[in-house]
Amino acid sequence: MQIIKTIESLYKRIQSFKKEQKKIGLVPTMGNLHEGHIKLILLAKKHSDIVIVSIFVNPMQFDNALDLTKYPQTFLEDCLILKKEKIDILFAPDRSEIYPNSTKMHTYIDVPKLSKIIEGKSRPGHFLGVTTIIGKLFNLIQPNFSFFGEKDYQQLLIIKTLVKELNYPIKIISIPTIRLKNGLAFSSRNKYLNNLEFQKASFLYKIIKKTINIVVKNHGKKLHETIHLSKMSLIKKGFLIDIFNVYNSQTLDVFSKKNKKNIILASVWLGKTRLIDNKKFILPN
Ligand code: PAF
Repeated sequence: MQIIKTIESLYKRIQSFKKEQKKIGLVPTMGNLHEGHIKLILLAKKHSDIVIVSIFVNPMQFDNALDLTKYPQTFLEDCLILKKEKIDILFAPDRSEIYPNSTKMHTYIDVPKLSKIIEGKSRPGHFLGVTTIIGKLFNLIQPNFSFFGEKDYQQLLIIKTLVKELNYPIKIISIPTIRLKNGLAFSSRNKYLNNLEFQKASFLYKIIKKTINIVVKNHGKKLHETIHLSKMSLIKKGFLIDIFNVYNSQTLDVFSKKNKKNIILASVWLGKTRLIDNKKFILPN
């Protein structure tokens, strides 16, 4: 595995891969790698000749400065994992390499129809930061494929829209959320949970599944009541709810009984930790 820190050396490597007509697979990350990332890397290996993983804690996507400074950084451990997985290149630029000047005045990419709703409403500017860094990485690395987890579902839809509308010749491939045995989704933020919170956290996915069972059984009727009861159960357990609702899984429009392909999106706080999760479901006729 080669570690590349500068855009200049990255360009040289990418040019030689392109000359050799190698298929490049990119797994963009912010480090603190877990089982979910490893699954993305394994999939990248299946599709590509060259696997590039990027580690960059992107300041532009943090709506809160404290959240950025607290974000877990485990570069040495991450390198060991990546070496073991035998990836080809780790691109780990310093912040000044990616943003030589302030991020506030930086050119940005926005996907306006999806970036300001749901999670984007709670975290203004977050998705604009995500799409801008992803656009930059796509320009720098020119991958044939890029791999993302479905846990960040709104992010995934936004990136797919970005690729489509800005005509990037890149195939976006996603994998279902990887979970612990108790159902808790793998996330770098799980590290913030204390023991008690860690045990409670698995309740989120249980409630999501229970809510879906009821919504499906009721053919979408009495949705507001069902959602309200689920939220109450979460609150009783100690969660603070930001988002817990049913949306059209293709457009993220609010729920309508006419639409069959749906998703529950949830963002909740457990103590100081923000957890997000989701599950898709089909509404029967
Ligand atoms: O999901 C993440 O880890 C980040 O949002 C991403 C896609 C690497 C962009 O910084």
